[in-house]
This record gives sequence, structure tokens and C-alpha cells, in this order.
Amino acid sequence: EIPLRLVGSEMCIRDRINCECKSFYKRGNDMSKLLIQGGKKLSGSFDVPAAKTAYLPILAASVLSEEKVVLHNYPGFADTENMCNILSSIGVKIERQDDCLIVDPTSLFSWSIESELASQVRSSIFMLGALLAKERKAKVAYPGGCEIGVRPIDIHLSGFRKMGVKVEEKHGYIYCDASSIHSAFLTLDFPSVGATESLMMAACLCDGETRILNAAKEPEIVDLQNFLNAMGAEVHGAGSSEIVIYGVKKLHGCEYDPIKDRIIAGTYMIATAMCGGDVLINGVKSANLQALIDKLDKTACLIDVKNDKIRVTRGDCRLGCLGKIETSVYPGLPTDLQAQLLALATISEGTSIIVENVFESRFKHVPELIKMGADVHVCDRVAVVRGCNALYGASVCGMELRGTASLVLAGLVAEGYTTVSGVKHVDRGYNKIETDLALLGADVKRIDD
Ligand code: UD1
Repeated sequence: EIPLRLVGSEMCIRDRINCECKSFYKRGNDMSKLLIQGGKKLSGSFDVPAAKTAYLPILAASVLSEEKVVLHNYPGFADTENMCNILSSIGVKIERQDDCLIVDPTSLFSWSIESELASQVRSSIFMLGALLAKERKAKVAYPGGCEIGVRPIDIHLSGFRKMGVKVEEKHGYIYCDASSIHSAFLTLDFPSVGATESLMMAACLCDGETRILNAAKEPEIVDLQNFLNAMGAEVHGAGSSEIVIYGVKKLHGCEYDPIKDRIIAGTYMIATAMCGGDVLINGVKSANLQALIDKLDKTACLIDVKNDKIRVTRGDCRLGCLGKIETSVYPGLPTDLQAQLLALATISEGTSIIVENVFESRFKHVPELIKMGADVHVCDRVAVVRGCNALYGASVCGMELRGTASLVLAGLVAEGYTTVSGVKHVDRGYNKIETDLALLGADVKRIDD
């Protein structure tokens, strides 16, 4: 018998049981390492999986439905599994059928997400917007995620407050009482991806017209709009800086195929540029990666684009200088590709300047790259990278998702063997990076310590 509302220690026990039951993929332990022998060229084609940054808010938004939702191409990253565990902990039934996830929110019995689960994944914050819209109440522990800066949630919370939600922060939890929630005109201080998504979810079951001004414009925002609308919501304008949401009474079930992961695609495009070779990336719109394509064009790679296929070719000539690159909001260069491009700059001609404008602590990969022979100086949010003739294999440790991916790329071109530890970070957003790269001809293996 499932009690209507679970609180405190009862919930913790249930959470743990759910965590054990719902692990769809068995992974290596935290001590896993990647062993890479550098020097192989890459070739072949790669089908890009669904985007973690699209799937996570969509999973949260499924609780808004009154019926089952079927999501295609489940990517099985550690982060999406953690999000499934969060949903299971509040009574959402999740079933895997081939590559589909069937999400059934009809048995939802709680509006509270405990800290053991919330701390596993940054996107646990999305449960606030979804639950307060559906249940008019939510209690969510502070979110976890990669340590790449302070990562405040003030823009999410101030938006909720402007919509009449009472928000209290105490004992490590955010409590929201949305019994008086109303539509509102909201102007974001910064076009935060997460805050835009939270507020879209909060508004879609709320009477009247909500406008989000200075909204984030990332392709994943458009995907969330399309998913909400497939469930019967009325959301318009995503992809521009003004999103309008007309509240509806309830949402129904749907089938949906979230967009493909532009960051994984970009990572393997950069890998091909670094290693040399010829790789066809399938499934991502080139427009979603235009900022990266413009940078790689400068480095003597050939990039050929047709519909949702991107072909990257590089012969034996040395990579040209990247020059100055700066991360910014879409359509600028994504912060999630900064670390990988920095790895590329370490072996390209001349001096590149990399400015990280989005997160304040996102150069944790640099000391590890220096161990491999890279010449990089970091001051605050700027890295000065002098290209060297070669990197050398070493034992290095990743500290966060994209930084760990950059160490793997460096290992692919380094002389000799590289071992990369901290693999649990890369598992958050790549489903077995070693298998993907081995398919393209790289020599990468996962080993247990
Ligand atoms: C960011 C990226 C997104 C990427 C995701 C996962 C940008 C603009 N966003 O999204 O593309 O997929 O990481 O790595 O590149 N901020 C606040 N208060 C808030 C929310 C955010 O100050 O309430 C700040 C953050 O600290 C950060 C900036 O706004 O400096 C961007 O944050 P946001 O877009 O929300 O980050 P994510 O949604 O995590």
C-alpha cells in the first residue's frame, strides 16, 4: 500500500529502493578509468543520441500530463537515469520498451524530492516548476550537478514569486506554495536556460497569459515548447527572446522524440578535427552548431553540411589557430563545448584566447592538460593557450562532465597511453564514450581500477 504522501525517513527508504530498482544500465564503479592509446585517426559515421539537455526538462514536464507519455530514443545517460529515479520516488511509473520510455504520471503521490536524489543531478530543479503547476505545491532539495561555478537558482525563484508562488528556502529545501499562482509578465535578469524552462512548465497550467521576456533561445527550449504543445499546452515564441504561454486546464498524453544532442555531436566533431580522419555525424541540424562550425572552419578542417548530416574531414596539415573564442548564450558558442575546444587549441598553431563568459569556474581541466604537456595560462575567466607540437600520455583526472570529455580528446592525440579517471562525470552526458569513439577507430577502453 502506498501512502498518499510520504515524508521524511519513509521517503528516504522508498527513494533508495527506487534507486536500486530503476537503474536501467549497469555502469562501471566510481573507480573506472578510461585507458587511451593516442595516435589513431577517426573514420566512419556516428548517429547522435537524444540530447540530455532536452530529455531532462521533458522528463520533468511529463508529470504535467494526465495520461501516459511515450518518449523515444531514451539515451540512458547517468543524468537521465537519475531523473527517472526522481520521478519514480514520487510515484511516476517508468517503463522501458526497446529505446522508448513510457512515463505514467497518473500514480503521482508526492510533491517532495529528497536531497539524496536532488543532489545527483542539476535538473532536479525542474521538478519545482512541474510539481507546483500540477500539484500547486512542491518541496525540492537544492540541486546537484557539475561543479562549474556557483550556479544560483534566483532567476527561477524570482519568476515563481512574480507568479504569486510563496517560496521559502529552509533546511536545504525550497518549499513552494502555489495555491495562488497566476499568470504574469516576467523579465529574466539573464536568459538562463534552466529558468526559462522552469517558468514555461510553471505557466502552462496557469489561467491567463504569461510572457517570459529575455528568455533563453537554445534549441532545447524550442524542443520543450514542442513537447508541451504535443501534450495540449499553448506555448509560442520559443527560439526568440519572448515566449508566450496561454494557460490550459489540463494536458494529455503524447508520443515525443526529443532532439539530438548537439554537444555530443560537437565533441566528436572536435575529436575528428584533433585526430584527423573523416567522420559523418548524423542527426543534428547544422544550424544548432553554427558557432562551432565557424570556429572549426578556421582550423583547416573541411566541414560539409547536408540536412542533418555534418561531415568533418582533416588531412595531415596542422590545425590552424582558433584565435579568440568566447562562450555565450545561443546562438553563440556553447559553454558546454569550451573545454573540448581548449583541448584542440593545445595542439593547434599559434596562441588562442578562450573566454568563459557563462560559468565562473569552468577551467578545471586545465591543470590536467598541463600534465600532458599543454601550455595554458588561466587568469580568472580567460585561458591563454599556446599550441604545442605534441601532447604526452599521462594519468589525469576529470572533475566535471565536459572537462573530463576534453581530457579524453587530449588522450586521443597524445603520444603513448593516457588514463582518465573521474569517468563518472563523463557518464552523466555520454552513454559509454569509449564505445562511441572505438566505433570511429579510436583505441579507448574502460578499465576497473
Ligand atoms: C547551461 C547552459 C546550457 C547548457 C547547460 C548544461 C548557457 C546560457 N546555458 O544551462 O546551454 O546546456 O548549462 O551544462 O550556456 N544563473 C543565475 N541564476 C539562475 C540561473 C542561472 O545567476 O537562477 C546564471 C548561472 O550561474 C550561469 C548563467 O546564468 O552563469 C547561465 O545559467 P543557465 O543558462 O541557467 O544554466 P543552465 O540551465 O545550467
